[in-house]
Amino acid sequence: MNFNSISFVTTATLHAALASLACTVSTASFAATPPGSAAKRDTMCPMHDNDARPWMNPRLPPDQRAELVLKVMTQDEKFQLLRTDYGDAHPRPPGALGSAGYQPAITRLGLPAIQASDAGLGVAKPHDVGATALPSGLATAASFDPALAYAGGAMIGSEAHRRGFNVMLAGGADLVRDPRNGRNFEYAGEDPLLAGVIVGNAIAGIQSQHVVSTIKHFALNDLETARNTLSANIAPAAARESDLLAFEIAIETGHPGAVMCAYNRINSVYACENDWLLNRVLKHDWHYQGFVMSDWGAVHSAAKSALAGLDQESAGETFDKQVYFDKPLRAAVASGEVPQSRIDDMVRRILRSLFAAGVIDHPAKPALIDFAADRKVAQRVEEAGAVLLRNENSLLPLSAAQSVAVIGGHADKGVLTGGGSSAVQSPQGNAVPDAKPTDWPGPRIYQPSAPLAAIERRAHGKVNFANGKDIAEAAQLAARADVAVVFVEQWAAESFDLPTLALPGNQDALIEAVAKANPHTVVVLETNGPVAMPWLTRVSAVLEAWYPGAAGGEAIARLLYGEVAPSGRLPVSWPRDESQLPRPEIPGAGLASIGVPPQGNPAQDVDYDIEGADVGYRWYQHRNLEPLFPFGYGLTYTQFEYSAFEARLEHGRVTASFTVTNTGAREGVDVPQLYVTLPGADEVRRLAGWCRISLKPSQSAHLTVTADPRLLVNFDSRGQQWKRPAGAHLLQLGHSAESFQGEDKVTLTALTWPADAAPKGAAQRCVAEGTQ
Ligand code: BGC
Repeated sequence: MNFNSISFVTTATLHAALASLACTVSTASFAATPPGSAAKRDTMCPMHDNDARPWMNPRLPPDQRAELVLKVMTQDEKFQLLRTDYGDAHPRPPGALGSAGYQPAITRLGLPAIQASDAGLGVAKPHDVGATALPSGLATAASFDPALAYAGGAMIGSEAHRRGFNVMLAGGADLVRDPRNGRNFEYAGEDPLLAGVIVGNAIAGIQSQHVVSTIKHFALNDLETARNTLSANIAPAAARESDLLAFEIAIETGHPGAVMCAYNRINSVYACENDWLLNRVLKHDWHYQGFVMSDWGAVHSAAKSALAGLDQESAGETFDKQVYFDKPLRAAVASGEVPQSRIDDMVRRILRSLFAAGVIDHPAKPALIDFAADRKVAQRVEEAGAVLLRNENSLLPLSAAQSVAVIGGHADKGVLTGGGSSAVQSPQGNAVPDAKPTDWPGPRIYQPSAPLAAIERRAHGKVNFANGKDIAEAAQLAARADVAVVFVEQWAAESFDLPTLALPGNQDALIEAVAKANPHTVVVLETNGPVAMPWLTRVSAVLEAWYPGAAGGEAIARLLYGEVAPSGRLPVSWPRDESQLPRPEIPGAGLASIGVPPQGNPAQDVDYDIEGADVGYRWYQHRNLEPLFPFGYGLTYTQFEYSAFEARLEHGRVTASFTVTNTGAREGVDVPQLYVTLPGADEVRRLAGWCRISLKPSQSAHLTVTADPRLLVNFDSRGQQWKRPAGAHLLQLGHSAESFQGEDKVTLTALTWPADAAPKGAAQRCVAEGTQ
C-alpha cells in the first residue's frame, strides 16, 4: 500500500466523524428560510428521507430533481451556488481541499461542498499529495483511439473522486492553431473531428466516475500571449466550422456538466459575457443543458455576463476585480436589470449537472487509489500516442545486444511534464525538484519514470549516461556505443507561448555533435509539440514522446525495443519553420509578460480569419505548402497497404469501405483516415472519419467507415443554417493528410439544416467486417 493512501484515509475517517456530528442539526423544514440561516458550511448529512427531500430520489430525471431543489431554495442559497472560491487561497477556505475551486455545502438541502480540481491530465493539486499523470492531451489524440481517451478520463476521474473532488476542470478542446501555443499539450490537436471525439470520450470517462467534467476554454483561447485581453477575431461561420465544431462534437459525445468560458475576447466581446457564444451558439443552437462557469479571472461584469449566459463565477474573490456574482448581481436583480428567472435558470443548470453526473448520489470521498493500476493506464496512452517520425534503415527497434549511450533530457531521473494549472506531480514527488521555474507557471515537474533505468533493464550491452551539458563529453560517450539515444526537452506552460520553434538551450548543438560521433542516433522528443529539427537528416530515428506521463520512461523503452510497436499519428501538422504558419510572429509576443491572471497584458487583436476554418493541414493545402510532417503521419515497425476503396451513399450517410493489409514482417496498428473534399473551388480536404486496427503480418481487414455528416456541410451566416452543397464529393483514403491510396466520388444533393438542428454525427464509426 502506498504511504499517501494511508495518510489520506486517516484524515478521511476524521472528516466523516465530524460530518456525522454536524448532521445532528435539524433537517425538518425545507421551506425557504431567512437569509444566513441556510448554509451550514463544509458538512453534508447522509440523506435517507426521500419524502422530505424528494430530489434525493435517484430514479427521478436530473431536470426534475433540480427543479424540486430550486423550489425550496432561499435567494441566499441560490447565490451561494453562483460562485466558487479559490480553494487553494492562503489561508485556505475552511473545508477546501486545496485545489482550484470550492463552494461550501448546503447541508440543509443535502448538497455537498463543490470541490473542483484541475485538470485534463490528472488531479493537479494539492501537489504534495500527488496523483497519476496522463501523457499530454496530444498523446491521447495521437492514439486516434476514443476508447483509450475514455479509459484515461475514467482513471483521472476515479482519482479525483477518491481524493474528494466532484468537479474536474478538464476537457481542453481548443484547436491547435499555432504550434507555439503554451497549452497545446493540454489539447487534442488541430482537427475538429479528432479533437471533438477524443475530448468527448475523455469527458465521458471522467463523468463515469460521478465527477462533473468541464470542457474548456470556450472558445478560441488558442494562444496564451495576452490571453486576458486579446480579441480572437474570426468570421462566425469559420468559427462554427473549426474551434466551435470541436466543442460541439465533444459536448455531444461527452455531455460535460460544465463549459468553462475563456479569458479572451471573441470579436471584441469577452468570452464570459459573449451573448452570441454562450446564449446563441451553446445554449440555443446546441441545446446545451449544463452550466457555464468562468475561467479564473475571466469575469468583467455582473448583469452583462449573467444575461449573456454565464452561470457561475469562479474564484472571483481572488482573481476578478470583485465578486460580480454576489452584491453586484443581487443589485441587478433588485433593479430588474436581471430577471429572477435568469437566476433560477443559472441555479437549475448547476443543480442539473450535479444530479446528472451522480455527484449527489455518489458523493466523492477519500478512498484508496491503486496507483500501480493507474500508471498502467498512463503507460498505455503513451505507448499508443508516441509518434515515430523517422526510422532510417530500420534502426529501431533496438536489439538488446547493442550498447547504448543515453544522453540528455534528465533521462536518468524522469520525464517532463507541462506547466501551469494542469501540472500533475507524482505521489513519489518531483524527480528533479530543483528544476526552474519553481514558481508559477511552474513548478517544472518531472515524473519519476526514468528512461535510463528502463533502457538498462532491457539492454544486455553496456549502457552509459551523459547529462548533455558537456557536449564534447556526450559525443565521446556516443562514439563508444553502438547506438546513441538523445533525449531533448521543451518545457511549455499555461500563461505564455513559446517564442520560437527552436529547442531551448544547446540541445540542437548537442544532437549535431552526437549524430556526428555516431551515425546510429535516435532522438526522443519530450516537447509541447512540433519543434524545429535542423539536424533531422543527420539522425537515424526520431520519436515524438510528447510529455510522456507517469510511466513515460517505461513506455519509451518498450517502444524503442519493440515490445510494443509505435502507433501514434500526428494530431498536428509539423511545420518546417515559423514562416509556414498563418502568423509567423505571435501577435503581441514582444509585449507579453508571464503572469497570473488577470494581470492585464496589453490588448491585442489576433486575426484568425487568415486561416479561418482551414486550420492545420487545411491551411497547408490551401496555401500549397509542404509541412515537414503532415497531420495523420506516423511510422511503425511494419507497413500497410490499402485496396478496394469504394465510397457510396448508404441510408443517407456517406460510407467508405476498403481493405487494409499488413505487408510487413511484424504485428502493428494502422490508422487509415478518410478525408472528404466538398465540391467548390475553395474547398480543401477535411478528416471525416478513421479506423484504428491491429493486424498481424500478412493479415487483412475489410473496414467500413462512415463520414461524419458535420464535415459535409458549411455554415451560412446569412441564412443561419448549415448547407450541404450539391455535387461530387471527393473521398480519399489517407495514410496521412497528404498521402493517399484510394479515392472515389459520391454525388450528393443540396440540403440545409437550421443552425439549431445541425446534422447529427456518426461520432466516428468504423466497422471491421472481417479479418483474414
Ligand atoms: C486556467 C484553467 C484552470 C483554472 C483553475 C486557469 O488559469 O486557464 O484552465 O482550470 O485556472 O486553476
